[in-house]
Amino acid sequence: MKIIKVKNNEEAGVVAAQIIEQKIQTNPQCVLGLATGSTPISTYQHLIKDYQNQKVSFKDVITYNLDEYQGLLGTHPESYRYFMNGKLFNHIDIKIENTHVPSGTDTKNPAVYDELIQQAGGIDLQLLGIGVNGHIGFNEPGTSFDSLTSVVDLTPSTIQMNARFFASVDLVPTKAVSMGLKTIMQSKQILLLATGANKAEAVAHLVNGEVSPAWPCTILQTHPDVIVIIDQEAGSMLK
Ligand code: GLP
Repeated sequence: MKIIKVKNNEEAGVVAAQIIEQKIQTNPQCVLGLATGSTPISTYQHLIKDYQNQKVSFKDVITYNLDEYQGLLGTHPESYRYFMNGKLFNHIDIKIENTHVPSGTDTKNPAVYDELIQQAGGIDLQLLGIGVNGHIGFNEPGTSFDSLTSVVDLTPSTIQMNARFFASVDLVPTKAVSMGLKTIMQSKQILLLATGANKAEAVAHLVNGEVSPAWPCTILQTHPDVIVIIDQEAGSMLK
């Protein structure tokens, strides 16, 4: 696990965008795994800026997002499809048919998503945020390390955390479709971003904790190629 320390979320976005752009320059047809949440927004803003300055093109890039709320259509403003279109895809030259977000409404056979990823050659670089409770994607504490893409229950704490995006906590879906921990671990390289004081405990587990489903992020200690970008606050509990 390689740790890059930065000052704040803005600087994390600059560094993460550079790593993603290097990947695209090496392989313009690369497969990127993408994440939602507030943490990667600055990364997406830098990717858009660099696209506008003709430093990078996404015309042959393929993307697979980590997760989606169950029950939300992609046109719902709080769906992760809507987030990705608005925060990134609509502003770059990616072909929208090359972008994939798990369906929140057609959830009969979610593991088909893993087959699609494999058919595309696997994920070259997976971008991740991290939940306060150490979740990655929507893989909450207790999730099996062998999990593939499936419908998952959200914990009350995650529902509370994400309520800030909805008009009321009652409107937050209680389930989601998420890539599994095994799906994430099959990515060739992983880039995790953690910024802000509320991530400090999760980051301490991620880096130094015992590998255990109690903190799903700890599985990343067993992946051969992980880069973690943390700001000062998120790194404040590291030894
Ligand atoms: C959600 C997403 C995760 C994300 C996490 C943290 O639960 N499913 O992929 O990493 O929130 O979000 P934020 O970056 O807003 O703290």
